Amino acid sequence: RFAKLTAEHVAFFRELLGQDSALIDGVDVNANVEADLEPFNEDWMHKYKGQCRLVLKPGSTEHVSKILRYCNEHKLAVVPQGGNTGLVGGSIPVFDEIVISMGRMNTIHVFDDMSGSLVLDAGCILEVADQYVAERGYIFPLDLGAKGSCHVGGNVSTNAGGLRLLRYGSLHGSVLGMEVVLPDGTIMDDMCTLRKNNTGYDLKQLFIGAEGTLGIVTKLVVQCAQRSPAVNVALLGLESYEKAQSAFREAKSQLSEILSAFELMDGTSQRLVHKVRGGTKPLEDDYPFYCLVETSGSNSEHDYEKLEKFLEHVMSNEVIADGVVAQDATQIRTFWSWREGITECIGHWGGTYKYDVSIPLSDMYSIVHDVKNRLSDAGLLGDTENHPVVDVVGYGHMGDSNLHLNICVRRYDKNVEKMLEPYVYEWIEKRQGSISAEHGLGLAKKNYIGYSRSETMIGLMKQIKTLYDPVGIMNPYKNVHRTNNRYVHQ
Ligand code: FAD
Ligand code: MLT
Ligand code: ZN
Repeated sequence: RFAKLTAEHVAFFRELLGQDSALIDGVDVNANVEADLEPFNEDWMHKYKGQCRLVLKPGSTEHVSKILRYCNEHKLAVVPQGGNTGLVGGSIPVFDEIVISMGRMNTIHVFDDMSGSLVLDAGCILEVADQYVAERGYIFPLDLGAKGSCHVGGNVSTNAGGLRLLRYGSLHGSVLGMEVVLPDGTIMDDMCTLRKNNTGYDLKQLFIGAEGTLGIVTKLVVQCAQRSPAVNVALLGLESYEKAQSAFREAKSQLSEILSAFELMDGTSQRLVHKVRGGTKPLEDDYPFYCLVETSGSNSEHDYEKLEKFLEHVMSNEVIADGVVAQDATQIRTFWSWREGITECIGHWGGTYKYDVSIPLSDMYSIVHDVKNRLSDAGLLGDTENHPVVDVVGYGHMGDSNLHLNICVRRYDKNVEKMLEPYVYEWIEKRQGSISAEHGLGLAKKNYIGYSRSETMIGLMKQIKTLYDPVGIMNPYKNVHRTNNRYVHQ
């Protein structure tokens, strides 16, 4: 369907971008750029590999507009890429699509310290944006383990959820405005900095979670919240998942407005983190479950007291088996590292099959037991090299009913895959869950959308894709792919 890249195409882009460092040209067979192309052709998990021969690094919205208009006219497929930390293969070309890397567009434009609205380029790194508003007494309404390298444009394009969605809500609420370049080069300027704007359809919402399939997000207006001066963190050890549910219920009722995160980690995840990183565990004994509870408020003493009272209550009622409150900022960071470090550590043995699912809380963890039993019964899980599966892990954003089910493997293996799919998707469907709570569909999950969305909805999504991207150049083969009909159950 797409044209093959030629030296003539590259010459156009070179002239447009005006500097050699703004492009990596592997179309020229004499250019020795394999190593330079590699990071753009491989994802964070080293699971997906593309064959892109050209990376473009636009420096302005006008560049993006001219690039897309040219690509649309010449039928050249493109993949927008932010920090390349996505976990579903969405940011990696499948074949030789052009990668449009947004890292040069990283200016923070304006911050209104009365309203908290922040205007910034899509290529800003999340942690940099948060640091900028922190210096002004505010907090970026999203936080996640990849904050040091992911871009805010990538966050919006995946509708990332992260660690504090419970408190600050989803990006659908906190993105006030957006500038997007459509596939034909049209610039859609919807840079509203106000919270209320009920004039017609809210078109920017379509780009939140579109995974680069409808256009390229170039600028954003984000509503930031007042940063809480008092942050406290407690780590709980629990004997069962049922007890974790009771602890969550109690935390909501006793900590109410100061509760800012409630994260679940099973004992297996913590054992694996310990095996990989070592270090002193925050709680002496091992437990089947751990919960990390964070409060953010305005009065440190009062909040600390509230958290301690909560701890006493759940301890004396035998909801939790043990618990500890972090004593200072360093300990807060350490407690969080036991949660945020899971993603990296569980890949240590070779790889991970990742499922990011929403399930009603009452049932949420039982999928981990079911999958573990299934793999054990099939003789695939065990301690020796002959077993492809090391262990099955569950953790996630309990406050949002979002579980990360991960199957840690020594190697990717067809027999394991056959055991997992469509079994996991059917399991989720039976409980009216979602097969992708926050990471998106990308390449990994696109064929399974039918387990969470009706035929009618998928049909409408395909119409939207065709309307915005009639030639189909935007991140083809991902998400809701125009010509992909394999939405029915396998
Ligand atoms: P990329 O990976 O570069 O791209 C992701 C998708 O967005 C691709 O489809 C790409 O084409 C598209 N895209 C990127 N930029 C643009 C743009 N400007 N315009 C249009 N499309 C664009 N996710 C969560 O939801 N919650 C978490 O808690 C979380 N934790 C994580 C922890 C770790 C350690 C890692 C590695 C990942 C985590 N993620 C999490 C995954 C998450 O989706 C990404 O980290 C992040 O949101 C993606 O941003 P990015 O800039 O890296 O985007
Ligand atoms: C997380 O919550 O840690 C992220 O979504 C990444 C992951 O699923 O491992
Ligand atoms: Zn997550």
